[in-house]
Amino acid sequence: MAGKADKLILGLEDHLRLLGQTGAEFAVRRIRTKADAEAPVPKAAFGSLDDVARHVLECRKCPLAKTRTRAVPGEGHPAAALLFVGEAPGHDEDVQGRPFVGRAGQLLTKIIAAMSFRREDVYITNVVKCRPPENRTPAREEVEACAPYLAAQIEILRPKAIVSLGKSATDFFLRSGKGMTQLRGEFFDFHGIPVMPTFHPSYVLRQESIRSVKKQVWQDMQKVMKLLGRT
Ligand code: URA
Repeated sequence: MAGKADKLILGLEDHLRLLGQTGAEFAVRRIRTKADAEAPVPKAAFGSLDDVARHVLECRKCPLAKTRTRAVPGEGHPAAALLFVGEAPGHDEDVQGRPFVGRAGQLLTKIIAAMSFRREDVYITNVVKCRPPENRTPAREEVEACAPYLAAQIEILRPKAIVSLGKSATDFFLRSGKGMTQLRGEFFDFHGIPVMPTFHPSYVLRQESIRSVKKQVWQDMQKVMKLLGRT
């Protein structure tokens, strides 16, 4: 029992530390000491999505800056009600500087259309804005270095719903230690914004029983559409 509690506390500490590093005031209420209380409230680090993008394009905070071709800040409607968050750019995204433009992106674009949105109506980005070599899973330090950008994008957009695509994106919001099969299909709350975890389009493409995985993604997206009044 003590082991479980320790794990939970460690997990929470971890999560708060990550969110704290984002500088996102909406994400973490800092414990305010007397000195803190007298200090001015820090202003958000970024004023607009374009401002975030400018910083991302020049970012050299982690080693991925050395291996990337282009950083990929994200794209979409500046007042999008729906935000899709993936893991990190792959080869095609790295070359073009745009998110989800490869095979997985084509599937995501189809999913968005099936939800009766146009790609340009929603916002699409990743947890990590530069391609990890060989498309490996981003390292923890890379996620931490990049976290302020996604936090700022969410804070500026304040979407009505977020879809987290796959484990890396879902872990950004919810450090649960659970797998996608357990997490998908139910909204959870991220500082007042409903987040729907679902399978990553690349995972869908890799599955032999592609129809059943696709069906589950579609069930998840129908819940998002219902929330947004799209059904
Ligand atoms: N996979 C991702 O997670 N993001 C992209 O932009 C492309 C593929």
